[in-house]
Order: sequence, then C-alpha cells, then structure tokens
Amino acid sequence: MEIKADARKFSEIECDALVVGVYEGERPEVGALAEIDKRSGGLVTSLIETGEFTGKTGEMAYLHNPGEIKARRLLLTGVGKQADMTVDVLRRTAGATARMLRSKKVRQFAFLRRSQLPLGEAVQAAVEGALLGLFEPDKYHTSDKTEDHIEEMILATTEGDTNELRRAIERGRIIAEATNFAREIINEPSNLMTPRELARRAGEVAEKYGLSIDVLDEARMKELDMGALLGVAQGSAEPARLIVLSYTPNSDAREMVAIVGKGITFDTGGISIKPAEGMEKMKYDMSGGATTIAAMRAIAQLKPAVNVIGIVPATENMPGGRAQRPGDVVRSMAGKTIEVINTDAEGRLVLADALAYARKLGATRIVDLATLTGAVSIALGDVNMAIMGNDQAWVDEVIAAGKRTGEKMWQLPLDREYREQIKSEIADIKNVGGRKAGTITAAWFLREFVDETPWAHLDIAGTAWNDCTKPHLAVGPTGVGVRTLVSLVENLARR
Ligand code: BES
Ligand code: ZN
Ligand code: ZN
Repeated sequence: MEIKADARKFSEIECDALVVGVYEGERPEVGALAEIDKRSGGLVTSLIETGEFTGKTGEMAYLHNPGEIKARRLLLTGVGKQADMTVDVLRRTAGATARMLRSKKVRQFAFLRRSQLPLGEAVQAAVEGALLGLFEPDKYHTSDKTEDHIEEMILATTEGDTNELRRAIERGRIIAEATNFAREIINEPSNLMTPRELARRAGEVAEKYGLSIDVLDEARMKELDMGALLGVAQGSAEPARLIVLSYTPNSDAREMVAIVGKGITFDTGGISIKPAEGMEKMKYDMSGGATTIAAMRAIAQLKPAVNVIGIVPATENMPGGRAQRPGDVVRSMAGKTIEVINTDAEGRLVLADALAYARKLGATRIVDLATLTGAVSIALGDVNMAIMGNDQAWVDEVIAAGKRTGEKMWQLPLDREYREQIKSEIADIKNVGGRKAGTITAAWFLREFVDETPWAHLDIAGTAWNDCTKPHLAVGPTGVGVRTLVSLVENLARR
C-alpha cells in the first residue's frame, strides 16, 4: 500500500473514499464537519438529528455521492468523546475504517486529520492502524482469499512540513510492517515453522536489515551447559536453536538491552501432555520469540543509538521417546538445578538458559516476553499483559512505553512469599508453584536467572492471540509487544 500526505483541502482530494472521524455528540456547526454538511446538502445534520449517527466509537455511516467533494464516497466514523481522544483511538479507527473500505472494494482512501493530537504521533498511529488492520491470515486459502486490496492511503492534513510528515509515515510503516511480520510467522503452522525455520527467518531479517546473527545448535548449547533448554528439546525430533540477533551501533555504550522471547514452536505439554481440545493454538507459543525478531527488525531500521540484542530460545515441546519426565532434575547454565515437576511448564525452562545467556553476553537490562501461563488469561483476559520485574524503575519504563504505544500492561506483585511455592525438596527450585498465583510463580522462577540485572517480564499468553475478528483487527496473532519494545529502546537511546 502506498501512503502519502496531501496538503490540499479535503474537498479537493480525489479518491474513492474520504474518512471523517466524528466525536460523540458533535454537531456540524464549525470546522470541517460544518463544511462537509454544507457541501453535502445537510447529510450530516440529518444523520445526527434522526439519531442514526451519534459519533459513538465504531459507528459508521457510508455515503454515496456525498455532494461537493471530490471523493466518491464519504465514510463518517464515530470516534467517541472528544475528551477521550488518544492516539490509540486513532489507530483503531484507521484499522476499522481501512478494513471496512476494503470490503467495499475501495482502492484508495483519504483519512482526514481532525484531532488535536501531536501531528507526527497522529499520522504514525493512523498509518500503523491501517496497516495492522489490513493484515489477513489467509496465506493458505486457495479459494475465497481476500482479493480486495487497498492500494493507497492519503493522509489529508494541511498542517506540518513534508519532511515531518514523511518521517511519521515511515515510522508507522516500519513498526506496523515489523508487527505484521511477527504475526505472519506466528501464524505459520508448526510443521513449517520449526526452530530451524525460525532461525532461518531471523537470518533473513539479519541479512536484509544489517543485524549480526549467531545461531547456536544443540552441540553449542551442550558446551554451554544449557541443561534446562536441552531438557525441553530432547523430546523432539526437530533440533533446537538459540537465536541471537545483535544491533550494536555504539561500541562504547554503557547500556546493552537484551530482549528475550519464548520460542516454543509447538507446545504439546510434553509428557505432561495437554488436552486435545484447542491444542492447535499452541503454534503461537513462539509469539514472544517472533516479537523479539520483529522488534529487532524495526530497531535496525529506526537506528536508535543504543546496543540491543534479541535472544530466542527455540524448540518444540514434544513427548517423544527421549522426552524428559516429570521428576527429572536438570542443571541450568547458571548452575542452578531444577526439578521438572510438570513438563508443560517448559517456557520458563528454556527462558532460564536464555536469560542467563543474555547476562553472559553483557546485558545491562533485560526485558522478556513469553506466552508463559494460562493463568494470565484468567487474571487479565485479553486486555492487559502482565508485567513483573526485579527493578521498579525499569518496570515503570516498560509500562510507560506500553502507554505511549497503546499496549496495556498491569503489574503483578513479586513478593518474596511467593518464592516459597517453587522450593524443591531435591533441587534448587522446581518448575511449577501449584495452582495459586501461577503467573507470579512463573515470573519468580525466571527471576532466579537474572540475578541483579534489571529485568522486566511480560506474560503475553492472554494478549498475543485475538480469538475472533474485531472491526480493526483480524483473528489470530496480534504481534503485541513490538510497539512497546521499539519505543522502550528509542527512549533509552535518547537519554
Ligand atoms: N504455553 C503454555 C501457556 C499457555 C497456555 C499459553 C494457554 C497460551 C494459552 C505454557 O507452556 C504452559 O503450558 N503453562 C502451564 C504452566 C503450568 C503447568 C504450571 C499452564 O499455564 O497451564
Ligand atoms: Zn507448556
Ligand atoms: Zn508453552
């Protein structure tokens, strides 16, 4: 899709459709809405007076031959109360309207700037929203594929200079396309998206965007004594990989951020096998890993002045003849021994070695993302990710990055009392802490492997998958986390 800004008056822009956001309760008395009303012979007034259109979020009115404007169609869309307007509302509006217009065979549309939000942020969010909204998981359909394509998005604004607008569009595109890249690889079925294939895709990203990459095979993991990661991998015929992407623009920087993402390409549960129902969804257990690779891709393009490494422990969790058993004890790279009570709590095992490896590579701050626990969906649903960490200032920075980019997080407590639940009789710790506070005890387990390095953990099991199509978003992977990570890293680079 081509995206450009157009500084002409909105009525002069020739296109298939013009999108105009309308606030809840707004009357067409001043500004663009009044002018549209006049040029359309009072269409807006009549829609509002009859109560057909109130401006509530998500409402749409699609009008043919809208009068004295050069667009062939007019799409009025409710954006809710003016006081509640945010870039996130804008992002969703762009997504929902782009999807709607595509279904109407529109090829080219203009999105009118009406909000008072900072121009650059607003443009970026609109671009992100449209690109994210238009993503469809229909790669393997051989019929009934979405054949309709929007070819051009025009941002209709008389404000701003060309460079500022071009930069905002480019940023929006980089971030949204990276997110869609994550969604694409998460959607790939596990017979195709194996650990080796994930590593190959990471290699393509490295090559194309100029990152360094190191892919550790099982022999190297063995040399490094990564017993926790290898223990999970041993039940699978597919060999594991540990993917390390590096972005190092600054050789004498004090900071090195490590992004660590869980890369279980399929989670059967292992010997503690999962029930059949819904198991197909466990292909998305590499969402944290995909998000990590995607964020590294966007970072390589945006070039912030801070060193970042992305680490993805990638393996299947299978119940093969060599699979680890409940009760097995493994020794992690950090030296801690772990009693594996439940082989389905494999994410924390692979992350244990990946986190330790991040420290070994010199990370001064760590953020990890993982579809770690079913319990997080019970606690927070699909609205908030759970965040926990060992350094409140760092946790706050991650939360703030989420706030800036419309990715919600809610912090759960890591009181020392919860640590009791993962004490083991025969090893240093065990990999499950019982039914209570499952998301917290999982985080406590991870905490054992970061030592004093500032660390924040995002449990994305509830938010990485969208169960049914929404107006602004297709069913399937959301790519949640990419925007947060990019903003977090850029913010670190600025200080
Ligand atoms: N990948 C799962 C977590 C998960 C569950 C993600 C549902 C998405 C949807 C993880 O490896 C797992 O199985 N966790 C167990 C831990 C338990 C055995 C302590 C869980 O949450 O049930
Ligand atoms: Zn599991
Ligand atoms: Zn898992």
